[in-house]
Amino acid sequence: YKEQFMAIERTFSIIKPNAVAQNVIGEIERRFEQAGLTIIAMKMLKLTREEAEGFYAEHKGKPFFAGLIDFMTSGPMIVQVLEGENAIHHNRELMGATDPAKAAPGTIRADFGSHEQVSANAVHGSDSPISAAREIRYFFTEDELFPH
Ligand code: TYD
Ligand code: MG
Repeated sequence: YKEQFMAIERTFSIIKPNAVAQNVIGEIERRFEQAGLTIIAMKMLKLTREEAEGFYAEHKGKPFFAGLIDFMTSGPMIVQVLEGENAIHHNRELMGATDPAKAAPGTIRADFGSHEQVSANAVHGSDSPISAAREIRYFFTEDELFPH
């Protein structure tokens, strides 16, 4: 009964530079795919400081901001769009808590995030429909999305 009203959503995801450097892109993508989330767009790129600061604008002025920008510009990453039922919340559940040391066992951040550096928590995921729309548009044009 409930399922037929579940929305098919899109969310924006990043496989962060530490996970790319650790050679676990495939491991992380496998978790999304096995959970029923479909990758409908993806690319590898290295952010400029300006791009990283614009993406994380909501965090400007916070004590971790400079370190976060340093880390997010330190190497290549994967940006992608995931589609599926309840995709925004589902992705956040698969990711786990922001701090990998506090993330539940079996989550992506617990398994692939740094326990020394919170910013190196392996993945990003949009936190709301408005964030998802903004973040998808920040990196992708409509013709770069390939819904199944
Ligand atoms: P935030 O949006 O609060 O977390 P999430 O990624 O779970 O939505 O913060 C954005 C990123 O900033 C987070 O992924 C890692 C970094 N960060 C820190 O380095 N230290 C911190 O104390 C916090 C809250 C975030
Ligand atoms: Mg966030």
